[in-house]
Amino acid sequence: MLCGLLRSRLIRVAFYLLLIPLIIRGLEHVFVNYLPSQFIFDSAKLQIIVKDSINSLSIDASASEIMESVHAKLQEEYPGYISDLNPDDWVFNNAGNAMGTMIILHASLTEYLIFFGSSVGTEGHTGTHFANDYFTILYGEELAGLPNATKPERYLPGDQHLLPYGVRKQYRMPEGTFALELAQGYIPTMLPFGMIEVLTSTFDFATLYKTVKLTGIQIVKSLLMGKL
Ligand SMILES: *[C@@H]1O[C@H](CO)[C@@H](O)[C@H](O)[C@H]1NC(C)=O
Repeated sequence: MLCGLLRSRLIRVAFYLLLIPLIIRGLEHVFVNYLPSQFIFDSAKLQIIVKDSINSLSIDASASEIMESVHAKLQEEYPGYISDLNPDDWVFNNAGNAMGTMIILHASLTEYLIFFGSSVGTEGHTGTHFANDYFTILYGEELAGLPNATKPERYLPGDQHLLPYGVRKQYRMPEGTFALELAQGYIPTMLPFGMIEVLTSTFDFATLYKTVKLTGIQIVKSLLMGKL
């Protein structure tokens, strides 16, 4: 009796385990064929905006000045989709053992756009995501490396580092580095990576609350505008 029960449990577990690759294949199919129709941001256009801002400012422009210039151009290019730059809306983010600070410019179910960086500098794991991630350097530099690399990839202001879906790297940003980060894909699947270290490491629930609140407001705002 017990043995039969155990066997039927095992068969059921095996059935669900077999379903996982099928579900992933289905999600991949939607990712490639359907999600892009929901995107409003264009990674190439973002890089042009960043380069224009850097070129229009003096060589010793600060990270804040570059972010303000990029932000103004973004609001012009994507009216209604870019939130205001409120200095109180910066939040710490701990993920992949790296710590930085971010401000959310846009969030929806398929895209997010943030400024991300660190006054102090940071290093860690990029995470591996069900989204393409475009990291355009504004100030400072980013080093990144695949598991088989012996020398880092190096990204300087105006360069765009694409971390494609499913790829993972180690990365480092020296002090004062800031970037414009666009993620396009299944955004809700990225949120655990961005938030779990509150429970495993920082216990900074005030930051978690602020992050969830600001992200939630943006996603709902996007949905109300008909943007998935
Ligand atoms: C490292 O691995 C990637 C695939 O993951 C491959 O495309 C690349 O050529 C490899 N690089 C070196 C230096 O072996």
